[in-house]
Amino acid sequence: MSVDGIAVRAAVVIALVALSACGGSQGSESTTAAATPAAAASASSGATTSIANGRSIFLTGKDLSGRQITAQQPPMFPTCAACHNADGSGGKHLPGGAVSADLRHAALVTAQKTPYTLPLLERAISTGVDNQGQALNPVMPHWKMSPLDLHDIAAYVLTQLK
Ligand code: HEC
Repeated sequence: MSVDGIAVRAAVVIALVALSACGGSQGSESTTAAATPAAAASASSGATTSIANGRSIFLTGKDLSGRQITAQQPPMFPTCAACHNADGSGGKHLPGGAVSADLRHAALVTAQKTPYTLPLLERAISTGVDNQGQALNPVMPHWKMSPLDLHDIAAYVLTQLK
């Protein structure tokens, strides 16, 4: 499915390039945007769409196309917000003694000797290895999702949880 997503994006990008190449004397940027609003919206390539997709995954466990994220082991809860709270503040006591992490900027970046970056967050979310290379408590699921969704959820956590 992830491959499909990327293929769709690639096709849209190619279409946009082709359109702008044919744009002639018209301003290619505005022509392209106006000519293909549906394609642009479904491409989920804009920063706004990317953040909206990340927010959807964080709060509902589904990306904007309605695809449910899954995990290596069945997760105790299906959404990030269920364990980390909608604002990312965490601190929830979960069965087995685990406490969910604070995912806000101060906790993940400012207060860290090795601040989380986008790739480090993608690794933590998908493999349960933290910014220091240590294994997280396995109550934190090892999430399985498309590369695009993984990017968008990591970008959402890194830039939107204050
Ligand atoms: C079932 C509860 C649960 C769910 C659902 C969950 N997490 Fe976690 N998460 C945890 C716990 C517990 C920890 C802390 C693990 C530890 O202390 O070792 C954690 C840690 C993390 C960390 C590491 C933070 C740090 O300080 O190193 C990140 C990043 C993270 N979660 C992101 C997410 C994202 C994004 C989602 C949704 C895709 C998600 N989590 C869903 C329970 C959960």
